[in-house]
Amino acid sequence: MPPRKIIIDTDPGQDDAVAILLALSSPEDMEVLGITAVAGNVPLELTQKNARIVCELAGKTDVPVFAGCDRPLGRQLVTAEHVHGKTGLDGPSLPDPTMPMQDQHAVDFIIETLRREDAGTVTLCVLGPLTNIATAFEKAPDVIERVQQIVLMGGAYFEVGNITPTAEFNIYVDPEAAEITFKSGVDIVVMPLDVTHKALVTQPRNDAFRDLGTPSGIAVAQMTDFFERFDKEKYGSNGAPLHDPCVTAYLIAPELFSGRRINVEIETRSDLTRGMTVADWWGVTDRPANATFIGDLDADGFFALLVERIGRL
Ligand code: RIB
Ligand code: CA
Repeated sequence: MPPRKIIIDTDPGQDDAVAILLALSSPEDMEVLGITAVAGNVPLELTQKNARIVCELAGKTDVPVFAGCDRPLGRQLVTAEHVHGKTGLDGPSLPDPTMPMQDQHAVDFIIETLRREDAGTVTLCVLGPLTNIATAFEKAPDVIERVQQIVLMGGAYFEVGNITPTAEFNIYVDPEAAEITFKSGVDIVVMPLDVTHKALVTQPRNDAFRDLGTPSGIAVAQMTDFFERFDKEKYGSNGAPLHDPCVTAYLIAPELFSGRRINVEIETRSDLTRGMTVADWWGVTDRPANATFIGDLDADGFFALLVERIGRL
């Protein structure tokens, strides 16, 4: 099987960085056509810089990086420095990037790529707020049916919220963009907190990254050492949840994951529950299924894959 063609849309973010490293270390599974940055964990000028820092860490400076939307469709930007640090990549000390950022806007790159590549051959891997994706769909509705699949990290059902009592960060930041995406008709696979909170970087798993002894392995260990604080304090969890790598790992080894095809709607009107993913996990409505909602993973298999692949860099 040829490698899947993907665009990674991202707001790095330490967990985004690990997801990107996994993709860049797996050329037999995926061809990264481009990386598009969006405002999210930190403002756009940092997410586009961090995306390039990660490409250089991986030694893959030929991957084009584009800057996209610097704020949600219709709301003020909410960021997460309290989780990811002021740079968004706190933990390791990585050099500023020297590779250029592309001049083209990320949204135009997404549109142009979907129009150029054969229909149904490009997968969108979305690791942050869905602003770039929704903007592309609104600007060029003809590209929607050309998308092979969207695999995104976002939302929650049993785990409810991490930024508010009812909402996960990526959906909370831009609920209108999420609504457009979930109503688009595209084949969507969702990695919610329900599964990512089971992908915890315990000390032995962190040691396995560090023991690689490579710049990427050591950097991953330092990144997760840093951003585990938030989840340890909030949830008492036994390590950092590797949210975004679930997206790129799914493209490599979908058998590691399990879930259900269900209906998912997005709350956009209520201030109290803004950004909630109303997931009909128990099938109590007759709303049509519009997403594969992942609830579980083989965590040991997931981490073994991560260590093996990142060890290649
Ligand atoms: O809620 C977790 C998600 O929000 C992850 O994608 C993290 O990187 C942040 O973007
Ligand atoms: Ca992210």
